[in-house]
Amino acid sequence: MDKNQKHEPNNIENEDTLTNRQGHPITNNQNIRTVGNRGPATLENYDFIEKISHFDRERIPERVVHARGAGAHGYFESYGMVGDEPVSKYTRAKLFQEKGKRTPLFVRFSSVIHGGHSPETLRDPRGFAVKFYTEDGNWDLVGNNLKIFFIRDAVKFPDMIHAFKPDPVTNRQDSERFFDFCASSPESFHMVTLIYSPWGIPANYRMMQGSGVNTYKWVNKDGEAVLVKYHWEPLQGIKNLTQKEAEEIQAKNFNHATQDLFEAIEKGDYPEWELYVQIMSDDDHPELDFDPLDDTKLWPPEQFPWKKVGKMVLNKNPEDYFAEVEQVAFGTGVLVDGLDFSDDKMLQGRTFSYSDTQRYRVGPNYLQLPINAPKKRVATNQRGGQMEYYVDKGPNQNPHINYEPSILGGLKEAKQTGKEYTPEVKGKLVRESIDRENNFKQAGETYRAFEQWEKDDLILNLVTDLSKCDVRIQEKMISYAEEADEEYGRRLREGLKNAKSSESGPLGNAKNDQAVEDAVEKGHDA
Ligand code: HEM
Repeated sequence: MDKNQKHEPNNIENEDTLTNRQGHPITNNQNIRTVGNRGPATLENYDFIEKISHFDRERIPERVVHARGAGAHGYFESYGMVGDEPVSKYTRAKLFQEKGKRTPLFVRFSSVIHGGHSPETLRDPRGFAVKFYTEDGNWDLVGNNLKIFFIRDAVKFPDMIHAFKPDPVTNRQDSERFFDFCASSPESFHMVTLIYSPWGIPANYRMMQGSGVNTYKWVNKDGEAVLVKYHWEPLQGIKNLTQKEAEEIQAKNFNHATQDLFEAIEKGDYPEWELYVQIMSDDDHPELDFDPLDDTKLWPPEQFPWKKVGKMVLNKNPEDYFAEVEQVAFGTGVLVDGLDFSDDKMLQGRTFSYSDTQRYRVGPNYLQLPINAPKKRVATNQRGGQMEYYVDKGPNQNPHINYEPSILGGLKEAKQTGKEYTPEVKGKLVRESIDRENNFKQAGETYRAFEQWEKDDLILNLVTDLSKCDVRIQEKMISYAEEADEEYGRRLREGLKNAKSSESGPLGNAKNDQAVEDAVEKGHDA
């Protein structure tokens, strides 16, 4: 290397030669151009200014939620059946029809609340978003690991996320703000019960379930619809962590889930999930004690059995994290023929929010990026906008006709395949909650279904965080637990009482969390 810090150059330009983004070979990537070797620099340093100004713009806004994620490519293989019936009875979606049919896909797993490089051991739902590149265009199934959610009305989502994210003054997540919101939103209690149990910290992405959470519809060739819920079941098994186990991992590695997924795929140990649906007839089911459009509720599997429809295999890691995992854009509005929305109010709110944020986060032409573009022909009259990329308009399109309808040429509307599904909607416009809120019954059932260690961990985790909260918040949360299950309420009340009477002082550090643990133990034995 000479005194100008130039590396040995390639004699002729070849595949390894460094260029700028205009394709000009870079002959010196170590020194900017200066007057004499001590400077000053000159403004016509095009290569330097391009390099540094691109670097200055390397980040795009991170997702407002689900910022931390990992992704992988793979495929979906249809079983051609839903349980033991042909799938065509319920949906005409092409990807499901034929046994063995494979559809390429991309998956992004994520945590929700904290930023793009936050630890992957935090107590938080995990996102489970799948983009199927079907022959009819893309279908996104944007779900979570848990099967229910905190709220049932989309208007509450920004408040909920504000309460769960760090305090706007201290920039620290604060369990008092979390429980303040939950205590005033009793519909969240079922989800709180799950999230504070070991189910709130999946061991990694490969060993967690997935669920569409919201209620969707399937439509068959006769235009008849049913309500459906989607669930992914990992063939690797399910594994969750206690708070202690999570802390031990976090002390050594805060990227463990990303690492686990990447390394498993790299060594050919491809993770797999089976896709199941639960089906209900398309009506409001007055016989049930919950509303089928309420995403804080499970559909009891004894009444609405899980039926297998296919399998997903993840067999390829992304080649470029930013281009694929960061810029991928999923949305609940992205459905194909044979799949439809329900009137689930959360789903309707979500459906606006996703593409709205992606126009801001990635840009108005985000659908032209390879990771988001369908793997089939796209022909639209939407034009222009920042970063428009060439769109194949097809061999027969008159390039002057970027509108429809036209006598002179241009694109034509598609033919309707199958009978159109035309639900009738009638009613007064109101701002009201649903009738069958039933906020606590299923939380009690979930508590009783936990194994003993899961119950113990739930109470410990709740007491640890609730003991830092205002007593009015504690009392509300205890009253919800009492409504859900007598033992649940009693253990929470006793745990909080013992935590208060322990000599540990203000809670929140490791030593005092141990004191809470002892107090909970005492309460349990009592
Ligand atoms: C991401 C909004 C509820 C699952 C996002 C993003 C927004 C959003 C704005 C960022 C998207 C992006 O930047 O690309 C909402 C609203 C909700 C809601 C307004 C309620 C009204 C839910 C629910 C689930 C869910 C119930 C679970 C079923 C996800 C997932 C992602 C996400 C998995 C990450 C997608 C990815 O990996 O890119 N949500 N969300 N969200 N949301 Fe929601």
